[in-house]
Amino acid sequence: MRQSSLVVVANRLPLDDSAARDGACEWRRSPGGLSGALHAILQQTPATWVGWDGEIGLSSRLPAIGSVRLRPVALTADEQAGYYEGFANSTLWPLYHDAVQQPVFQREWWETYRSVNQRFAEAAAEVAGKHAAVWVQDYHLQLVPRMLRELRPDLLIGFFMHVPFPPPELFMQLPRRVELLRGMLGADLVGFQREQAAHNLAQLAQKLLGADATDDAITIDGRTVRTGAFPVSIDVGEMRALATRPDVVAQVAQLRHDLGKSKRVLVSVDRLDYTKGIEHRLTAYRELLRDGDLKVGDTVLVQVAVPSRERVESYRGLRDRIEGEVGRINGEYGRVGEPAIHYLNQPFSRAQLAALYQTADVMVVTPLRDGMNLVAKEYVAAREDGTGALVLSEFAGAAAELSQAFLVNPHDVDDLKQTLLRALDASPEDLSTRMNAMRQHIAEHDILAWARAYLTELDHTGRLARRFFGRP
Ligand code: ADP
Ligand code: G6P
Repeated sequence: MRQSSLVVVANRLPLDDSAARDGACEWRRSPGGLSGALHAILQQTPATWVGWDGEIGLSSRLPAIGSVRLRPVALTADEQAGYYEGFANSTLWPLYHDAVQQPVFQREWWETYRSVNQRFAEAAAEVAGKHAAVWVQDYHLQLVPRMLRELRPDLLIGFFMHVPFPPPELFMQLPRRVELLRGMLGADLVGFQREQAAHNLAQLAQKLLGADATDDAITIDGRTVRTGAFPVSIDVGEMRALATRPDVVAQVAQLRHDLGKSKRVLVSVDRLDYTKGIEHRLTAYRELLRDGDLKVGDTVLVQVAVPSRERVESYRGLRDRIEGEVGRINGEYGRVGEPAIHYLNQPFSRAQLAALYQTADVMVVTPLRDGMNLVAKEYVAAREDGTGALVLSEFAGAAAELSQAFLVNPHDVDDLKQTLLRALDASPEDLSTRMNAMRQHIAEHDILAWARAYLTELDHTGRLARRFFGRP
């Protein structure tokens, strides 16, 4: 395989099953913030993406997608269980999300996580040209930066954590915490969504490694690792273009008609994940119906929940619980032809999502903890006419930027209920002031700005950012 001067390493290639089965050479985004964000910036870039081919098993004959070459990493069933379902998604994911679900520690997962990380590092070393930049993504691959530096000291290595990075008292629970820290500190630049995460890393580096550390630089083994916050974003242009496309405008009219023209529409769009606060949200909605604050005759909730990580134990029970609760609410409060909740368990196209966002009078984004939450930003980008209300969890990274949203503590069901009512009852003037401020923010901080800011900090000169993403 030819070598590239920019290599992205992420757990997943941005393909879904259907794209691989018929061999179609086009981007099919799997739901999830990481692949969405990188998909948006890499389409025109001569780069190589190293990643797991999911469960599609076509490793040897994956096509290039646009200008991006794909370098698949195959995983056996045991590796998927120990590395992806085990250490990444049963240990690190819940712990990094404030342990809202109890993290599971199984000793045998560690060796698989380590050896799969080594395989990703070797694949990256193979496809990276001399002095190339390699950009390693997320908690699945936390050991890769150090492994890669050992294999290829000539490379410029970046690491970006898309999920929250926890405070020391939580991180300290992790078995193998020293290896995990040392692993990520193999990078030249460690980027996070929020500044607090860089602060947490500095504290941990001092405590566990005795390193000299501030919130923007850590000195270890005679090298300085820079750290900082680079809040990830979306392709604002894509969402704005979709929002005005005639077929999308027609879909909005159809959706409005189907949902009931005079109704106020609440919408939520999540991967089916326990960090997203879906159960708390349903409880709040049920109580509002019970107390008569909302009536099915004039309000309706659309909950899109796309299945995710279904082989991981903690996700299985969740789906059953949510579906049971939706059934109970509809059974108790719905009427014939008029459910209280429309529950959709399916993947949507970008155009369908744009239409749904425009149908939402109130977008309800209430994760218990979230690195960023791109759905919140997509909603704002889709509101071309400046209407609509965003109810947003304080515990989503997006809250640091979208401060004009109706911010809420989703752990507090009473606060959630009051905030939903405030958003539903807000005046059009209040809503448009808030929405326009948020729209301006994301227009100035889109996904290209994110990639440019990160790569400029990575190579200090701006050369890398200009070469791959042009001038701002
Ligand atoms: P996470 O990365 O935890 O899934 P984000 O909100 O940051 O959360 O990103 C989710 C991404 O997945 C968004 O780009 C959103 O549009 C997309 N997405 C969510 N649900 C669906 C769905 N049902 N079909 C297609 N894409 C979806
Ligand atoms: C989050 C993670 C990503 C992950 C995505 C979807 O956004 O930060 O790394 O790809 O969720 O999860 P999945 O397990 O399906 O890749």
